[in-house]
Amino acid sequence: MLQCLLASAPMTPLLDPARPVRWGIASTGRVAGYFAEALTRVADAEVVAVASRAQQSADQFGDRHGISRRYPSYEALADDADIDVVYVGTPHSRHYADTLLYLEADKHVLCEKPFALNQSQAATMCETARARGRLLMEAMWSRFLPAYVELRKLVAEHRIGDVRMVTASFGFRAPLDPSHRLFALELGGGALLDVGIYPVQLAAMVLGEPDHVAAVGEIGTTGVDEQIVVVMTFSGGPIAVAEAAIRTNLPCTARISGTDGAIEVPAFHHCPSFLDVSVGGPPARVDLPFDGNGLHYQAEEVHRCLHAGLQESPVMPLSDTRAIARTLDRARAQIELVYPGE
Ligand SMILES: NC(=O)c1ccc[n+]([C@@H]2O[C@H](COP(=O)([O-])OP(=O)(O)OC[C@H]3O[C@@H](n4cnc5c(N)ncnc54)[C@H](OP(=O)(O)O)[C@@H]3O)[C@@H](O)[C@H]2O)c1
Repeated sequence: MLQCLLASAPMTPLLDPARPVRWGIASTGRVAGYFAEALTRVADAEVVAVASRAQQSADQFGDRHGISRRYPSYEALADDADIDVVYVGTPHSRHYADTLLYLEADKHVLCEKPFALNQSQAATMCETARARGRLLMEAMWSRFLPAYVELRKLVAEHRIGDVRMVTASFGFRAPLDPSHRLFALELGGGALLDVGIYPVQLAAMVLGEPDHVAAVGEIGTTGVDEQIVVVMTFSGGPIAVAEAAIRTNLPCTARISGTDGAIEVPAFHHCPSFLDVSVGGPPARVDLPFDGNGLHYQAEEVHRCLHAGLQESPVMPLSDTRAIARTLDRARAQIELVYPGE
């Protein structure tokens, strides 16, 4: 009831819609580069600064993306009073501390997936955002793609009837490199947190938080899970199966099966440009736009929320982020994977 009242109350914008949204980028890694590129597609976005652990990396990134302020530490970005919102694109093990650093410096934060190493960190991050009155969102970019908007609409309109099962996989055979963050235990590596989160979040988007979670996995020589299968059951009977791997190629497709039909999401199911929808006949292909590298849709949502006075996105609310973190914890407990410091 309180949520309904809050939702209908006029909101004060968190930022003046008449001026650009000033972004800071925390990381000079691969995805931070894609995100900087994506921001060039967002009309009122201005990338003001980039932060790195090293001046040289910050300079190189700044040169590549035309960013004038280049900081040799993540703290220096927090001290820049001209930054409205920070994109946190560091390895998983740093999301918690980096997000808190920027929230406590009164920045809004878009934090890469997985939001945190575990649910306890996720809870503290969400509570800090609320206490500081800042927007906080997990960069679950799939949810903002036109194909996912359509998928939610089809399910909500009951086009495939009641959803009974969601199956999805995400896996590839990466070369075994103990220094790469995918395989590094101290950086929060492993299949579940890196790619398993996509099928888990798809199941969460369609079915909510599971009642029961069962998982089996294989821990590799570096101590992280190289493959995992998570089976989830939901109130009323639906089941979801999420498969993830970093040393095994998987189909990377998804299927949402209902009582009256099915939606098939092609590979890679976390970034599709069409859906195959079958309702009592052969599948009909529904083409959807997919512009650029797809990462700008989530940035547009951040802008929309800031201008609408929303501290959370209704598409990727913090309650969903926290529920996903709980599911990942429950799965990880069953394969006995513990990260340093937990
Ligand atoms: N949305 C997506 O499509 C997508 C895709 C892949 C990954 N991701 C997520 O994005 C995040 C980054 O992934 P990525 O592939 O960009 O990783 P990456 O290329 O390894 O980049 C990570 C960056 O983090 C910084 N960093 C800070 N502390 C570090 C440390 N102790 N060890 C290594 N790097 C450190 C480094 O930049 P400096 O040297 O400048 O400090 C590094 O370049 C992950 O959370 C990942 O799950 C998202």
